[in-house]
Parts: sequence; structure tokens; C-alpha cells
Amino acid sequence: MTVPDLETSHSPEVLRSRVAELLAASRARSTRLTEAVDEADLVAQHSPLMSPLVWDLAHIGSQEELWLVRDVGGREPLRPEIDGLYDAFQHSRASRVELPLLTPSQTRTYVAEVRAKALDVLSSSPLSGRRLEEHGFAFGMIVQHEQQHDETMLATHQLRTGAPVLQAVAPPAGRALPRREVLVPGGGFTMGTDTEPWALDNERPAHTTHVDAFWIDTAPVTNGAYAEFVAAGGYDDRRWWSDAGWRHRTEAGLTAPQFWERDGGGSTGGTWHRSRFGHVEPLMLDEPVVHVCAHEADAYARWAGKRLPTEQEWEKAARFDPASGRSRRYPWGEEEPTPAHANLGQRHLQPAPVGAYPLGASALGVEQLMGDVWEWTSSGWHPYPGFEVFPYPEYSQVFFGGDYRVLRGGSFGTDPSAVRATFRNWDHPIRRQIFSGFRLARDASPADGA
Ligand code: AVJ
Ligand code: FE
Repeated sequence: MTVPDLETSHSPEVLRSRVAELLAASRARSTRLTEAVDEADLVAQHSPLMSPLVWDLAHIGSQEELWLVRDVGGREPLRPEIDGLYDAFQHSRASRVELPLLTPSQTRTYVAEVRAKALDVLSSSPLSGRRLEEHGFAFGMIVQHEQQHDETMLATHQLRTGAPVLQAVAPPAGRALPRREVLVPGGGFTMGTDTEPWALDNERPAHTTHVDAFWIDTAPVTNGAYAEFVAAGGYDDRRWWSDAGWRHRTEAGLTAPQFWERDGGGSTGGTWHRSRFGHVEPLMLDEPVVHVCAHEADAYARWAGKRLPTEQEWEKAARFDPASGRSRRYPWGEEEPTPAHANLGQRHLQPAPVGAYPLGASALGVEQLMGDVWEWTSSGWHPYPGFEVFPYPEYSQVFFGGDYRVLRGGSFGTDPSAVRATFRNWDHPIRRQIFSGFRLARDASPADGA
């Protein structure tokens, strides 16, 4: 399933049918994730960091009702009395389990009723006129919103205990990379977008950003490399950690990435295993490390004598084509992601080994930027120059300047419709229940010829 190629979608019929396909695909995923477990599991709190799965499902319906049925469609509310229950700003994730939520069966009925009305609105919307409807933006926003919550629900699945309920095929094999790091030339490049029709407000506007020349790794840091840091006592060595990182490592008792376990018990000896959606398996050393917080990423980078890239550097490495001087839509070009480009869309429920996606390489030869693991950057969450709220401040703006770090590129849990090379994600630097990893960068010197 791909995002619409809006350049060629002049006919509203074509755009309408693509929107309908994407809505159906996101709902199929939400259905799979919520039907995989029983009713008790759906209403349970699997972690104070997450909502009960039944809340995510009803919230998906509630946002769809607000934007597509009420706003675009101008229709009457279906169940105005439940709006507050599913407003993410009124109740913390940890407290949602206490609310008088719709039952699983009421929730399924509600989201189906909303969807029927949304499809009816779609059939009569011109998909143009108001900015909210231009190129089907409101529908694209709702598709992305559902897919974002599907990734959140996947993270909840990772936190639940019990027998495995999700199955997926293994990712493609890795390969040895031709180079370990590449030099990204200094100078200006175009960051952000004005033309991507379903880009969210925080990705806009396109603007020229200068970066100094730097080196970036061609692949994310692997489990094997990260295990060396653990074995070298990296978690106990104050030198590698920032003040905030050391404080957090101490308070939270961090000793290894989340979901890593020692075979044979104890904190030393034995071999590393990891639990993944209920499967306990040997740690795959050539896969990108996942479930690390930004402080762990920073500490590893300092131990390795490198650093995280800034958000600007990440986007330049991903998009800049030195042959044309332009920025691409995806690392590999303008073509929408296919299974050959990137590990996206919950097709494989794990990161793919390094080297698995030669066709996904950027113009500069950087691989696996899209998919596999979200990549922590060193940048905080700020608006681009010229930012304008669209269509509501609670998506991006209210978080600007908070205690957040930007993550880029999407993970195996992210749908292609919900990520692109301009897409910006953010979270608290202590979070690691998300599918987060990182890659390394370092400054270039004049001798590097940049
Ligand atoms: C962009 C992933 C930070 O889940 O908090 C979902 C996406 N916003 N519903 C989040 C989002 C509103 C958001 N992130
Ligand atoms: Fe939401």
C-alpha cells in the first residue's frame, strides 16, 4: 500500500479510490492488532506508559469523527458525550484504564459507524477547495493518525506478557556494506517541504539549511556493537553519560536495552537473548539495536568517539543529491516505498540486519534510513522558520520547546503512508518502549576534503 502520487492524481475519482484503499488498510491493521488478544487484554493496562488497546481504537474513531465526519462532512456528532474520554490531553495514558470507556464491542461498533459515515463524506467531497480538503489532506491526516496509533498499539503488544499472538515473516538477509561511513559535504540544502501534499505542519515550510561537512555511518548501530559497549562496562562508566543521562540511568537502573535478557540468569555471563512480541530468542547481532533511550544512544556514541547526528544532518544525509543539488522525497528518490526499499509497515516484526536494503540507499550511500528503527538525533523539538499551525496546535505546536528529542526515519512498525524523509517524530529522551535505535556521526576535518 502506497501513498497517492498526487502529481498524477488530477482526477478526484483516482484520489478518492486511493484514499479509500489507505483507509481500509489502516483499519485492517487496527483490527488485526485488536483482534489478536482477548477482551481482558484489550481493556488491561500493560504499562503505565501505554493506553489500554481499546482506548487507542476508540480514539482512532474519535479523531476520524471529529475531522472527517464533523469538520469535512459537516455532519452531526454520533456520540458527543464520549469526546472527552478520547481526548489525549484530558487524561494521561496511565489513567485511561480508570475511565468509563466504551467496551470492546461498543468500540468496534462505534469505529465502524464512523467509518461508514467517513466513506460517505469521501464519496461527495471534491477533495479540493478548502485547504483542509485540498489533495485529500484531511483524509491523509486521518490515515496517518490511525497508522501512528497502530505503531503505538504494536509497542503495547511488545510490553504485554503472555504467549505470542502476532506472527510475521523474517526480514531479508543482510550483507557487508561497502563503506562504514560516508562524508556528507558541507553547505546548504533544502530541508522540509512545501509540495508533499500530506506532509504535516511541522515538516513545513521548505527552507535552506546550512550544515558543515560531517561523516555519517552507512548503517544504524547494531546489537553486536551495542553489546560490546555493555560488556566494556559502559553502563557503569560515568564518563560516557551526560548529567541528565547518568541521573536517569541511575534512577531507572538501566543496564542494557529494554527487552534484553541474560541467558542463564544473573547480570553477567551467559549470552544475550531478547524478548520480542512474546518470543524469547538469541540476540541477532547484525540487527540495528532497538529499545534504547536517547541517553543510552548518547552514551554509546561518546564511548565510540562519535556523536548522534543533528536532525539537519540526518535529513541532509537522507535527501541531498550532490549530482542535482536537490533534496529527494525518499533516500532512494521519488518512488514510494516498496518492500525492496525499506523495512516498514509491520511486514517483519523486527529490524532487518544491516545491509538488507541496498535499494534503499541515499544518493550519498547511506542505508536503512527509512524503516527498521526510529533514529534518535541530538536535536530538540522545534518549529522550522516560518512554521504555521495546520490544522490544529495539539499535533505539533504544543510540544515545541519541551523535553523532547527528534527521531527520524520510521521503524518496522511504521506504515509507509505515515513516514517520509521529511517526517519528524519526537519523544522524551528517556523513552525506549518505542522502536528506537540510532546511528552515529562525527565532525569532518579540513583534511577530509569536504
Ligand atoms: C508524532 C508519535 C509523537 O503518538 O504522541 C498521535 C502522534 N499525535 N495522535 C504521538 C500522534 C496525536 C504522536 N507522535
Ligand atoms: Fe492520537
